[in-house]
Amino acid sequence: MTKRKILKTLYEKKDEYVPLEQFVNETGKSPEIIENEFLNLEEEGYIINHSKLGYRLIKTPNLLLPYEIKRGLKTNFMGHDIHYFNEVDSTNEVAKYLAEEGAEDGTVVVAEIQNKGKGRRGKTWISPPGGIWMSVILRPEIPPHRASQLTLVTGVVVAKTIKEELNIDVGIKWPNDILIGKKKVCGILTEVNATLDKVNYLVVGIGIDMNVDVPMLPSDLQKGATSLKNELNTEINGALLVQRFLQNFENIYNDFKDGKFPEILDEWRAMSSTIGTSVEVRTRGKRVQGYAVGINKEGILIIEMEDGSLRKMISGECLHLNK
Ligand code: BTN
Repeated sequence: MTKRKILKTLYEKKDEYVPLEQFVNETGKSPEIIENEFLNLEEEGYIINHSKLGYRLIKTPNLLLPYEIKRGLKTNFMGHDIHYFNEVDSTNEVAKYLAEEGAEDGTVVVAEIQNKGKGRRGKTWISPPGGIWMSVILRPEIPPHRASQLTLVTGVVVAKTIKEELNIDVGIKWPNDILIGKKKVCGILTEVNATLDKVNYLVVGIGIDMNVDVPMLPSDLQKGATSLKNELNTEINGALLVQRFLQNFENIYNDFKDGKFPEILDEWRAMSSTIGTSVEVRTRGKRVQGYAVGINKEGILIIEMEDGSLRKMISGECLHLNK
């Protein structure tokens, strides 16, 4: 709380020195406690100038700090509770634990580094510094068969956020990869806890290669991956991107709860780079090749086979052929 108050004043008085007494008066804490909070802020990466006149904020760290994400966040519930980690095994695992403990709809877990990041289909998700490794707890009142729709919803939110905030043209590869050109910039992993007739909670895990240096990724991943920084040749402000994501997420999630999934699906289709492409879908032990003609309202991919018959693919890894 004290730290929040200090930061609020530093931002309000940007470009000015604020005397120590002002922080003491505003927080009701002793000068020693305030000085200690300044040391903590500097440890987090804030650059603060001290002089006889007081303290002045010089630079905010480009980290996914809750205070920075919440500053100016205009949501009603999404991201009101943010759990921040410098380093963690997997934000999805933490989010599942918090959900079991009763965490609310819209609770967020975010980390700078994941040591055991999880990808789809049991793969490891490499999560070095510079990425957005984030999980959101959702508690929609829906039957279990609708849970996968929220993965598509999240894909739309990520794609829209990157387009709006950074003006980068992205595509969605079925079921939930966000691509720039042919290269993957974001993956989504949804985990569901449900009974037979109702979802208890979902954890939607989002991994965005934001300021990741592509040459730092393992060599087998480099060819198929890109990062936002790589595309724009400039460092992206992570807290602002997460803030915009949470705002878009709340709006579109509310639409979803209001029965507007068909409209969201239309947006998914409009941004899809899979529909209208020859694809190979790999499922356990099987490879199906054909032409992707669309997705139905459950998010199932419809493939036209060479003999003209249609095939439905519920899940799998999708490869775009001849593109
Ligand atoms: C994929 O394989 O495409 C899905 C990748 C999902 C990665 C994110 S990063 C944040 C969250 N925590 C995890 O352990 N995984 C997801």
